[in-house]
Amino acid sequence: MSNKVENSQCIPYGPKQLPWTSQLPEGAVITKPSNDPKEAYVSVPPKDVNGNFPQIDYSQFEIPPTGLTDEEREVALASFKVFIETQHSSFAGFQGNQDQNYADRFPYLMDMHANNIGDPFSSGRYTLNSKFCERAILDYFAALWNNKWPHTAAPDQEDAKTRYWGYVLTMGFTEGNIYGLFNARDYLKGRTILEDQKTNMEIDSYTKRGRETRGQHFSYKAPIKNEETSGNTYTPVLFYSEDVHYSIQKASHLLELPTFQQIGQEKYQGQCPITKDGSWPEMVPSHDFDKDNPQSGSVKIDELTQLVHFFVDKGYPVVVVANIGTTWKGAYDDVPAINAMFEKLGKDYPWLWERKVVYRKDENGNPLVDIRRGFWLHVDGALGAAYLPFVEMAHNRKLMDQKGPIFDFRNPAVMSVGCSMHKWLGGPWPSGVFMTRTGYQLLPPDAASSFLGTPDTTLGGSRSAFSPMILWDYFSRMSYEDNMNKAIETENVSAYLEAELFKFESELKSRFGDEVDLWIARSRLSLTVRFRLVNETLNYKWSLDTDRLWVPVSGKERQLRSYSHIFIMHSVGKKRVDAFMADLRESCKDDWHVAFPKIDISAVPPAPNPEQQKLLFS
Ligand SMILES: Cc1ncc(COP(=O)(O)O)c(C=O)c1O
Repeated sequence: MSNKVENSQCIPYGPKQLPWTSQLPEGAVITKPSNDPKEAYVSVPPKDVNGNFPQIDYSQFEIPPTGLTDEEREVALASFKVFIETQHSSFAGFQGNQDQNYADRFPYLMDMHANNIGDPFSSGRYTLNSKFCERAILDYFAALWNNKWPHTAAPDQEDAKTRYWGYVLTMGFTEGNIYGLFNARDYLKGRTILEDQKTNMEIDSYTKRGRETRGQHFSYKAPIKNEETSGNTYTPVLFYSEDVHYSIQKASHLLELPTFQQIGQEKYQGQCPITKDGSWPEMVPSHDFDKDNPQSGSVKIDELTQLVHFFVDKGYPVVVVANIGTTWKGAYDDVPAINAMFEKLGKDYPWLWERKVVYRKDENGNPLVDIRRGFWLHVDGALGAAYLPFVEMAHNRKLMDQKGPIFDFRNPAVMSVGCSMHKWLGGPWPSGVFMTRTGYQLLPPDAASSFLGTPDTTLGGSRSAFSPMILWDYFSRMSYEDNMNKAIETENVSAYLEAELFKFESELKSRFGDEVDLWIARSRLSLTVRFRLVNETLNYKWSLDTDRLWVPVSGKERQLRSYSHIFIMHSVGKKRVDAFMADLRESCKDDWHVAFPKIDISAVPPAPNPEQQKLLFS
């Protein structure tokens, strides 16, 4: 036996740190560790963090084939609890509200498996579900987002197509973005699902082989190309801003929904209307990073319009993603201006608002036709769609000076909207709400309904029955008035944090000179304030999100800057801001660079060189 193999037999594993192999029962066909996982994984807290944080002994959490004894489990869980409660007590860097009160609410749901599989509006045969509560939640959001409710898809209901449809997500808003763009892609590609009855011959072809089969058959159909369609009529092009969340890029990749850059580079090289040399940028430009620009982080409408116009003029249908509360800057895109863009473009290109999508002929020889739009406007409101309605209420009551843009279905161009549960609202796990209108919904094959008794209209199969209960509980306890006060409070604390940081910067300047610059910036009405990166210990303690960006400075110069940001969720009140500021002050007692480390030039990567691009999937 080689030394390596011998060592791998002896790797200590589990709370008792016995050799892995000695703990194996007879008959187990498994792999053994190649080296000690304790040494393979990052330590908690990370090595470069100083201070009195709970230390995790990974061996306590290793699960050997024998499992853990009750005592070992208690020791491990006690250590986990201290760790997670410590991090919870100072969490401030991400858009996740840590203010929760659900521990005693639904203990009985922890001892069963309820499941909202399938469409929320049809209870289905999996009767152990919370769909009637889900429907109440969806109605609640439909009202808040100015959609028509209650939902109906009844063909004899005249306005059924303009009523809402939606569902409570099992993942966070990544699922909402993927589902929104999936729907957008198929809608604009003109796809539909056709239901046919199987012929006797087709049924025979199953039963004669001893196979059973259903009587109908569903298939995705592409539209017929005719003299009114061009090569581009059913090729949707995606537009999103530089400040978009990465889940949109993920969705674009997953769905093979090309961006304007991809099509531009392939077919229209050198023709980009917004760059001097005609090269295609990756994303639609956003307003600058400048701290004095309150629009910082929102998409530049002029550039978006020129880009969209370029592709519409060539007959492409377009998908535009608008952000309501961007991930890093918490900025809001001007959705009414995007709506106006589509209305204006519609005058020259009427097919944007109404176009005939033709399928094969029906049994009477008449063409099957669907009337659709030639665009889709998806609003990623993961963060902001949950609170801007309450900011608007507060503004209308003259309790706030400003309000955000109207982002909802009052804009005729808006076709899908959603938000996360666990961000501003708060919830113990990720979830959210996706909403569109029945008329834009593409129904997936109904086949599943014959055994589940509910159409398979959502992205996943099994869906959480628990998340709708969390949302239901939240809104049943928090009136509009309460949410409005919460919105006012989170805005006020954000303004307070910004003011405190500026005050602190002045203090530092008076002590250490004018070279002090904390790069503080907050976009208009944003719940996040960004500032110069703090040291690893502060970052760890406060769970701060960080980003490293090339930033334009003084005209043509650029600087690689690392930033931190704090997100003001309801769990981050003035007291927590004060405690954070006290930490900063303490760290800057002798040298402001203790809290705000100098950029290590040697760690700065060379300017990007296309010749040296890394293969991320090698
Ligand atoms: C603007 C935006 N969209 C989408 C998402 C994805 O949400 P989730 O992490 O809930 O999937 C985020 C997450 O931060 C976000 O900020």
